[in-house]
Amino acid sequence: MRVIQLQYEGRHVKTTISVIKCDVGSLVGHHIVPEPLLEIAQNQLAKAKEAKLINSFYVFNAGDDLELLMTHEKGEGNSEIHTLAWNTFQEAAEKAKALKLYGAGQDLLKNAFSGNIRGMGPGVAEMEIDERRSDPIIVFAADKASAGSFNYPLYRIFADPMNSAGLVIDTSMFHGFKFEVLDSKKNERVILKSPEELHELVGLLGSSTRYTVSRIWQAKDHLLCAVTSTTKLSLIAGKYVGKDDPVAIIRAQHGLPAVGEILVPFLHTYFVEGWMRGSHWGPLMPVALKDSKCTVFDGPPRMVALGFQVCDGHIANLKDGKPMVADLFDDPAFELARREATETAAMIRRMGEFQPARLSQEAMEYTTLPQILEKLKDRFKPS
Ligand code: 13P
Ligand code: 13P
Ligand code: MG
Ligand code: MG
Repeated sequence: MRVIQLQYEGRHVKTTISVIKCDVGSLVGHHIVPEPLLEIAQNQLAKAKEAKLINSFYVFNAGDDLELLMTHEKGEGNSEIHTLAWNTFQEAAEKAKALKLYGAGQDLLKNAFSGNIRGMGPGVAEMEIDERRSDPIIVFAADKASAGSFNYPLYRIFADPMNSAGLVIDTSMFHGFKFEVLDSKKNERVILKSPEELHELVGLLGSSTRYTVSRIWQAKDHLLCAVTSTTKLSLIAGKYVGKDDPVAIIRAQHGLPAVGEILVPFLHTYFVEGWMRGSHWGPLMPVALKDSKCTVFDGPPRMVALGFQVCDGHIANLKDGKPMVADLFDDPAFELARREATETAAMIRRMGEFQPARLSQEAMEYTTLPQILEKLKDRFKPS
């Protein structure tokens, strides 16, 4: 047993789960990360594992976003881990450029890397934990979506007793949860406690274009149970450069929502900001990895959910070291949501470029809309 052994050694090692992702370029427009780029990531992380920088890893793609899932013992925001991710994305972007793939290096917004990948373009969700006796983890990754895409499901999972039976049935969940909410415009944070401040919480989270959940803790003992990537690329670059296609890490069971309570919000589709040119509201479609690829109007926006158990700093693995990862949306139970997403997509696309199909005027400020206004500025007369 690791815990016993670590106590015996007189030190205490925590496990860090890092999901770092980047759109480095894609095959046929903004569709998928092709095999040669996945291979580069696979090789880089395999080398890092051999060098004992990371303990285990899983490379996958959410549409055109390359996702690096890693476990290690170096903590959050560690410069060696971030450098590994940065170098991997750089090499993959080079390959994308050589193959003339679309949007090569799309999310690598800055050149001067100084050890922390935050604010450079790639998305980061990291969680340092004391491993519990058993620690089920779910990683969510979306494409053609945005940072606020997790607001609705996170509210349902951690604050709505009609979603999560544990809030009523499991006395260890009675104390509720604390939500850290980020104001992406002012770059400020506020912590709100559910259930006491539920109405204030919904007030903010409902404005998902501006306020996003960044972290959630169990209220009674401050156990960290959810983190998301919350960057807004447009606020880094000052213009539209692709959407933020977010990731989240959620811990499950034993005083936290059960795996099924974390997945049940996805029984139905719901609207997220993103889709074509990052400028439209689109119905989210929960999909298996094999369907993690956007097509219709560059969508509908997709989400994958991967489940695993953390074991002694690793993703619990097979004898040959292969990580055991469950593709949770690879299930007929989500066909209803997928059908709803397709039907809703067809319905809202009839509205073309008219609100609410297209994002609000404020959100469009980072697109080419200001150029239209600039062109017309002398023709506006007092009415
Ligand atoms: P088990 O008794 O199978 O662990 O299930 C408990 C649970 O929480 C199911 O949602
Ligand atoms: P990504 O943000 O996934 O690169 O998509 C950009 C886009 O413009 C899709 O239409
Ligand atoms: Mg792209
Ligand atoms: Mg993308």
